[in-house]
Amino acid sequence: MPTAVPFPSPTPSDGPPSGLPPVAIELRGLRKIYRGRDGRPDKEALRGIDLLVPRGSFFGLLGPNGAGKSTAINILAGLAIKSAGSVKVFGIDLDRHPRRLRRAIGVVPQELNLDPFFTPRETLELQAGLYGVPKAERRTDEILAALGLAEVADAYARSLSGGMRRRLLVAKALVHRPPVVVLDEPTAGVDVELRRSLWRYMRELNAQGVTIVLTTHYLEEAEQLCDRIAIIDHGRVVACDEKWALVRRLDEKELLITVDAVPAELPAALSAMGAVREPDGRIRIRYRPSRVRAGEILDRIRDAGLSILDLATREPDLEELFLRLTGSRAAAHPRASERLAPAPG
Ligand SMILES: Nc1ncnc2c1ncn2[C@@H]1O[C@H](COP(=O)(O)OP(=O)(O)OP(=O)(O)O)[C@@H](O)[C@H]1O
Ligand SMILES: [Mg+2]
Repeated sequence: MPTAVPFPSPTPSDGPPSGLPPVAIELRGLRKIYRGRDGRPDKEALRGIDLLVPRGSFFGLLGPNGAGKSTAINILAGLAIKSAGSVKVFGIDLDRHPRRLRRAIGVVPQELNLDPFFTPRETLELQAGLYGVPKAERRTDEILAALGLAEVADAYARSLSGGMRRRLLVAKALVHRPPVVVLDEPTAGVDVELRRSLWRYMRELNAQGVTIVLTTHYLEEAEQLCDRIAIIDHGRVVACDEKWALVRRLDEKELLITVDAVPAELPAALSAMGAVREPDGRIRIRYRPSRVRAGEILDRIRDAGLSILDLATREPDLEELFLRLTGSRAAAHPRASERLAPAPG
């Protein structure tokens, strides 16, 4: 068992203030054009994004490399300036109250942007100071412990490993107890144990009422953690729904049927339904659950004189939907298990 990174149990002052509006983040017509320099063309990274993140949700923002995820997050964090559209966090408008908006949100950026000459403790104290958290209300030690950084609290950031720096970035985003936490690929390149502890940590925060937005290329991670998912591609939202509804949208299932004796040639009634014979002798039938019931398919098999010994069903997962919606480029994102292989060098 990997050691759990305990999250400090909530005190009455913890968690988001009650009475927050039901929508945590609202993006309307969000556009971003990076101006080309030195004769290079402009890049339209966001082409009109509309997104609503409900309060309390665990929201996955997915998309292939270059889709515009970090651009949207950096706009929320104040690290990039939008070209058009509106951004609100709990109803606070970015154009009108940028500082108030920033207080409502904690962002863990994709880039490791830590000052190498500060220690984790100094980094958190500085960040708390920036947000005007009074000394008495700071919880530096608590956060350091929660993220497994207590032992390196007084070491220079430059001496920390990549995974520890990643944790420090998460810690930094939490010093002002924001009711919304946005994490841009927090588990990229971290080992299995840290990944697990970050998952627990994010779940714990979410259970306390914190709204979480997560970007990740590990689709199983999104499948496990998130309740709502948006997929963006080329700067547009191509899908956004509750997780189960997204996958169901493919309206595809597969039945794998083991029969007592498969005829060399499948009966015509079965071939007409698209049944094929697998090399292992099973019969595979792909069907649309909205049009055909599995029971009807089984009836036809029995009608064809075959006796069913066993059956299995297969449903498409988030990865399949992702691939369909974003095309072949997404094939560059192998499953987490493959990506966890040690990087060369
Ligand atoms: N500072 C910048 N100047 C110019 N173009 C940029 C800048 N930042 C991002 N882009 C471009 O904007 C597009 C969106 O980039 P962004 O970083 O938002 O994608 P992403 O979805 O976060 O990708 P990834 O999964 O690789 O992190 C890309 O084409 C990228 O090259
Ligand atoms: Mg990114």
